[in-house]
Amino acid sequence: MKYGYFDQASREYVIDKPDTPAPWANYLGSPAYGAIISNNAGGYSFVKSGAAGRIIRYRFNEQDRPGRYIYLRDEETGDYWSASWQPVGKPLDQYKSVCRHGTGYTRIEADYKDIHSQVSYYVPHSTPEGAGADHEVWKVKITNNGKTPRKISCFGYAEFTCESFYEQDQVNLQYTQFITRTYFKDKFILQTINENCLNAVNESRVETRIFALAGAKVASFCGDRANFLGKYRDYGNPVSVEKGRLDGTLNYNMNPCGALHTAFELAPGKSAEFVFLLGQKRESQGNELAARYEDTTLPDREIAELKTYWHKKLDNLKVTTPNDNFNNMINTWNAYQCFITFVWSRAASLIYCGHRNGYGYRDTVQDIQGIIHLDPEMALDKIRFMISAQVNHGGALPLVKYTHNPGHENKPEDESYRRETGSPSYRADDTLWLFPTVWKYIAETGNSALLEEVIPYADFGEDTLFNHLKKAIGFSLNNLGIHGLPAGLHADWNDCLRLGAKGVSVFVALQLYYAFEIMIRLAKHKKDTATAKEMAELKERFGKIIEERCWDKDRFVRGITENDVTVGKGGDPEASIWLNPQSWAVISGFADEKRGKAVLDLVFKELNTRYGARLMSPSYRKHAFDGALALLFNPSTKENGGIFLQSQGWLILAEAFLGRGARALEYYLESCPAAQNDIADTRLMEPYAYSQFTESTDSPFEGRSHVHWLTGTASTVMVGCVEGILGLRPDIDGLCLAPSVPSDWKSFTMEKVFRGSKLNIKVNNPDGRECGCRKLTVNGTVMEGNYIPASILKPANEIIFDM
Ligand code: GLC
Repeated sequence: MKYGYFDQASREYVIDKPDTPAPWANYLGSPAYGAIISNNAGGYSFVKSGAAGRIIRYRFNEQDRPGRYIYLRDEETGDYWSASWQPVGKPLDQYKSVCRHGTGYTRIEADYKDIHSQVSYYVPHSTPEGAGADHEVWKVKITNNGKTPRKISCFGYAEFTCESFYEQDQVNLQYTQFITRTYFKDKFILQTINENCLNAVNESRVETRIFALAGAKVASFCGDRANFLGKYRDYGNPVSVEKGRLDGTLNYNMNPCGALHTAFELAPGKSAEFVFLLGQKRESQGNELAARYEDTTLPDREIAELKTYWHKKLDNLKVTTPNDNFNNMINTWNAYQCFITFVWSRAASLIYCGHRNGYGYRDTVQDIQGIIHLDPEMALDKIRFMISAQVNHGGALPLVKYTHNPGHENKPEDESYRRETGSPSYRADDTLWLFPTVWKYIAETGNSALLEEVIPYADFGEDTLFNHLKKAIGFSLNNLGIHGLPAGLHADWNDCLRLGAKGVSVFVALQLYYAFEIMIRLAKHKKDTATAKEMAELKERFGKIIEERCWDKDRFVRGITENDVTVGKGGDPEASIWLNPQSWAVISGFADEKRGKAVLDLVFKELNTRYGARLMSPSYRKHAFDGALALLFNPSTKENGGIFLQSQGWLILAEAFLGRGARALEYYLESCPAAQNDIADTRLMEPYAYSQFTESTDSPFEGRSHVHWLTGTASTVMVGCVEGILGLRPDIDGLCLAPSVPSDWKSFTMEKVFRGSKLNIKVNNPDGRECGCRKLTVNGTVMEGNYIPASILKPANEIIFDM
């Protein structure tokens, strides 16, 4: 069953069956003001922080309620419905709904009994002052498509939280229900919080929110949720909508809301247009905002501005391959998700409530990789920020607070940091992600001067970026476990591996091996021969240990516990093969081609399923070692042998590095959301967004996917496709082209912006190869090999790559 389709030209996903198997969401806004909205207008908004800045309420793990509701009522018959199918939920044989999720906006259209409604939800890209806007807009247009005049009432409803910290709002009712008030101010409902106390101290500190109506007259209002809904009613049948009038009650204690009613008569073919506005605003700002949107054409311009902003960014790489799902995801949806994940980390979604109030170190350093090819400047800001969250001894703050203050932060050694963030100690992998990320940024831009930039440490002191990287290596070297391999510490990439104080991680060993390689490249570029030599020696030393200790007959093992028990040996009753050490043996360059192919063939045989490769197999049931927290999960779920999709991205990359394009694309398509559009009832999740994991073969719900939007999957799959399958592999001096594609890709094109130059690349593959370069021509000149020096690029370049 499918519920919608991709409109590629407008970069929209169109949901034309509103009873989707789960709320299918979109993101609006910017770090100044975030909003999540489902195809049924469920969701919430927050100022800066999902946890601490919540302004409208959402009940998690429930029925996608409440949200940004618009109710319509026929004044003659008393019949009422909502402009999104839910919450009223009219029978779908009488009610048609089309939701278009786009880049930074969502438009929901509905047709019911000859009345057409269209509501566009968005957060403007900028304000007249140029800053990121911190209010949201619900632009409403109601049209009478019938033959007789109609009298229609429209009600907008926003349920304010009682206090901006969402958890308090949900659970500390003996307090939060007694701190808010609402007022009616001609054009809007004004809500105040702790007004009585703060007024006494400092009026300017009173927190206020507004829900306003512009472009139409307020016919009635209500500021109290209980009165809006009525006794034993729900959002689907509010008594005030049923009656056609809001009773004017304002809240004084209990639950506030903003509800505004406007009424109009529509001749056949005529429309009414008006705008609801929501934000954390003072009364005077509310007045200004409402006045600005009296011009009801402003939203059209603001939505056009949002589209221009996003589409321009996404246009920095545009591919046209024979596979439409691939094109669609790389050009729009995977790319858009990479930006969303980059901005919101793992904070706020319909699964994450915003409680993780900061950036997970490894998560964000990896997320950066997903946008480098599209917006290297944006990536650079975050690289600087993350480097400034490295601790002077080389480790990293596992959680970087939104209020991060470089040079002055507490760290896991400090009780206060542990209390505040819940992160008890260092992870083994955190700073090792910096190596591929910094490398990708420098290679994309050529900006190697970044290596000399001085950036503070989180706790004290400062250093050049290059020295920060050296310290990261130092941290791993200072934290070795048994056999001289890197200790697993609190965990490595896998949150569920506690290998013990001296237990060691093979994944980290391979990451470290790769880090040495990147350091050699960077040091050579800097002409720092001493460091290059030191890194080469370390690489060799660790290479030997990996060879001796991390290999078991036909596979790389996953780790060794402090009791010297090897995890992931062939023949083990459970967890005998793990995906990441095999793919990372290839990515890190440790495994040569022959061995790489052999271990990835084993992966294909032992771990692959129709929805992707499992993280390990068999799942833990009875034979888990003491620190195997994956045992907490049901078999084939999350880290316990589920298809952990972030790892699927590395697998795609590794296969592509080996030149096995068919296999790479096969893995890609197994887990590609767009390719699963027509099995929505199996997958449940949005067909335009990646999930964290998919339940696998042990589960009665094989194929069901979970944890939408905010996941490292977005960036690893993007890298797997851009660097892997498409073979766009820049280095400091230019661009290496090495596509790795299935043999039936007989030709394809890529338009890429690279260091300010436009590259129009045409790949010809008449003989149906999977990799290799026969001839590379740039602006008519045949190149040596498959490399384009940046120095020869013109503003626009015609590039022909013959495979
Ligand atoms: C989740 C976490 C991430 C971790 C991964 C594997 O995605 O956000 O930090 O690496 O799980 O355990």
